[in-house]
Amino acid sequence: MDQREYFCRRRALVTGGGRGIGRAIVERLLDEGAEVVAIDLRPDFLADLAVSNHGRPLQTLVADVRHTAEVLDGLDALGERPNVLVNNAAMNARIGTTELTRVRFADVLDVNLVSGFELIRALIGPEPTSSEGTVQKGAEDEPSLAVVNVASVNAFRGQPDMAHYNASKAALVSLTKTLAVEWARRGLRINAICPGSVWTEGWDDGGWDEETKRIFAGKNPLRRFAEPREIAGVVSFLVGPDASFVTGAAWIVDGGLTATI
Ligand SMILES: NC(=O)c1ccc[n+]([C@@H]2O[C@H](COP(=O)([O-])OP(=O)(O)OC[C@H]3O[C@@H](n4cnc5c(N)ncnc54)[C@H](O)[C@@H]3O)[C@@H](O)[C@H]2O)c1
Repeated sequence: MDQREYFCRRRALVTGGGRGIGRAIVERLLDEGAEVVAIDLRPDFLADLAVSNHGRPLQTLVADVRHTAEVLDGLDALGERPNVLVNNAAMNARIGTTELTRVRFADVLDVNLVSGFELIRALIGPEPTSSEGTVQKGAEDEPSLAVVNVASVNAFRGQPDMAHYNASKAALVSLTKTLAVEWARRGLRINAICPGSVWTEGWDDGGWDEETKRIFAGKNPLRRFAEPREIAGVVSFLVGPDASFVTGAAWIVDGGLTATI
């Protein structure tokens, strides 16, 4: 299948698209020829994204992914429902496990896990009426919805003060596998990507100091942080035509970190 033609038929929704990894994914999918809707809480991030991508088929929506009905109303006002979804928005602040409240834990699960699930459920096509099974019968058949859930390498490893975040990402990988099995016949192709350390502004917000950054960068065999575009390239592959037989997988993109444990 021709890659450019495929992406020209795709309308992608990227949550948390205003900065960091989400922004790199938005820009990569635009490069591939897709239409893109970027959602973010922050109007200032989206305004900056729109200015620097002026003239491209980019739409922006200021919304909180926790408010699914508002997100769907906003999407419907912008045009057709998307057929590519990248669930990237997340809360990731460090909190000591003894201080972690039930409310805060639930909030993180809401943003990082449940909101993405709600969007998938809203965008997935109906159950096929025929009893034959899958909608995609061959490599040329396109998924009715291609999804990438942005998880983390912390789905598979412990890291102090991140119990809420790590649990949310492990659950996101689990959700990815279940939906891949349950909704393949509805035309869903869904994968998770599990990045290691990627240099974004999110690290500054998280209060990580220079020494911690140096230690993190030294943990993987490549001895550096990834750049957001190195994650975006794998996301583009996973929602694209070359990944037509890839579903229910967790793609680790961590500079070899998990190879060391
Ligand atoms: N940066 C890393 O090292 C790293 C590593 C592994 C996984 N990840 C994952 O990658 C994704 C992006 O990380 P990042 O470093 O680019 O983060 P970031 O904090 O730089 O950007 C996240 C974006 O999401 C938006 N956002 C947050 N909550 C939202 C909500 N409720 N509704 C709408 N938008 C919301 C923010 O405004 C921000 O623009 C996250 O899922 C994160 O868990 C990041």
